[in-house]
Amino acid sequence: MIISIVNHKGGTGKTTTTINLGSALAEAGHRVLLVDFDAQGSLTYSLGMDDQGPTIADAFHGDATVHQLITEREGMHVLPSGAALADVELAIAKADERFNHLSNLLHALSDYDFVLIDCPPSLSLLTLNALAASDYIIVPMQMDVLALRGLDSMLETVRKVNAIHPRLAVLGIVPVMVDTRKNMYQEILQHIQSNYTERVFEQVIRTSVKAAEAPSFGKSVVAYAPQSTTANDYRAFAKEVVRVTKVHQQQLTTSD
Ligand SMILES: Nc1ncnc2c1ncn2[C@@H]1O[C@H](COP(=O)(O)OP(=O)(O)OP(=O)(O)O)[C@@H](O)[C@H]1O
Ligand SMILES: [Mg+2]
Repeated sequence: MIISIVNHKGGTGKTTTTINLGSALAEAGHRVLLVDFDAQGSLTYSLGMDDQGPTIADAFHGDATVHQLITEREGMHVLPSGAALADVELAIAKADERFNHLSNLLHALSDYDFVLIDCPPSLSLLTLNALAASDYIIVPMQMDVLALRGLDSMLETVRKVNAIHPRLAVLGIVPVMVDTRKNMYQEILQHIQSNYTERVFEQVIRTSVKAAEAPSFGKSVVAYAPQSTTANDYRAFAKEVVRVTKVHQQQLTTSD
């Protein structure tokens, strides 16, 4: 299944969640592909890869196949990205089927249990391509008032995509960079639970110094500091994601 990690606000833990959910799923024996779909190339950089080399932009231009671009890291496959992805957005803007380019590229890849797409901090054509390629979205969110204000516009975009792509479902919102000592976190959590129908994952991801350090060592925090709170939170979150997707897939088969 394909899951986009989306939030159009910047710095909400999308890249960190993509990498560490992926690493935890791979550690548990699942076949995982990470797709860096942001021209910032943060996922590529954070896994110690070269964002100046061949990237997913080359697949869009027909200069490489996705198979040629795949690199292995921490038991996962990774499709790298870099600045060239910004030009892709311009190139596909006028094309027919402009929402389906990523979906068509990923179609060639079927050997994965989980494909995780790290989206850019915008509701751009690239993000719409990611949504159109996905079965699910996961929204990493900091539990503060400013983050909450962006939630409505994002869910509105998902509903628009749903009109042309009904399969897409919001798997849930995952609270990230949580400081459990602060009351604010509980208040925001309760507000979401009583005002939105979307699931809030039971597992929250706590802040840790190790998590902030990991990218500069080119590793996930799961690999860099395996016993840290954040690594263990992501492992428990990965289990919850497996459980929740299984239930959802069973519901789909029984309703067919
Ligand atoms: N659990 C955590 N504990 C400590 N620091 C964290 C944690 N999660 C993320 N961070 C840090 O917060 C910053 C933003 O995280 P990240 O890059 O994952 O966000 P993003 O949503 O991908 O950002 P962008 O919108 O720019 O793509 C990074 O410096 C990251 O290392
Ligand atoms: Mg990012």
